[in-house]
Amino acid sequence: MCKSFKVVAIHGSPRKDGKTSELLGYVLAELEKYDDVDIEVIYLIDHPVRFCMGCYSEDSRLCNPKNCTQGVLEDSMKSLHSKVILSDAIIFATPVYWYNMSGMMKNFLDRLTSLENAGKLLDNKVAAFVAVAEEDGAAHTISNLMAFANDNGMLIVPYSLVYTTGRRVKEDEEATFYAKRLGHNIYRMLKMACKIKTPWKEIND
Ligand SMILES: Cc1cc2nc3c(=O)[nH]c(=O)nc-3n(C[C@H](O)[C@H](O)[C@H](O)COP(=O)(O)O)c2cc1C
Repeated sequence: MCKSFKVVAIHGSPRKDGKTSELLGYVLAELEKYDDVDIEVIYLIDHPVRFCMGCYSEDSRLCNPKNCTQGVLEDSMKSLHSKVILSDAIIFATPVYWYNMSGMMKNFLDRLTSLENAGKLLDNKVAAFVAVAEEDGAAHTISNLMAFANDNGMLIVPYSLVYTTGRRVKEDEEATFYAKRLGHNIYRMLKMACKIKTPWKEIND
């Protein structure tokens, strides 16, 4: 179980070569140092997902990965669900759009609700965050992502508030150091998480 680790980075900017990519790059460069880590960056702009249709709100039993990817919802989410389920760690990387995550990222999270509903399928996966803003809203954005992760039983990496504001990314020494440290700490958390046998949703450990 602890032999190798799959990390997926969910990239929520429509600009693949923007600042989100740049800051995320420091995290991934650190993780790439480990031979037992396999990294995949998923650019949401390449995987359009429709809005959540609120099946849960009608009947929670209707909100499951099957219902969530058929009919009008038959879209990229089917493969994204699988990638997420098979991952050990998820890095959520987003630009700040109006003091929050991008719409693409929010749609993606909404569509992950079916995994929560199907038995908390994100439980014990490691969660980390990267945000990029021009002026304001990055910490708030990451806090919202953290709430999602925590409420899905994910393990939030210590010192996960990794963001940059305004400056050119490479000139922001604090942010680039935090990003490198995040990569290192994701690995430490992966090592810990794989030893945990009882899902966090249980109380009988
Ligand atoms: C629709 C939209 C809304 C934005 N809202 C904010 C905001 O609330 N706060 C902020 O500091 N920057 C805001 N920005 C600026 C982006 O966060 C900034 O340009 C960021 O670097 C974009 O990331 P990218 O380079 O990866 O595309 C906004 C940009 C767009 C396009």
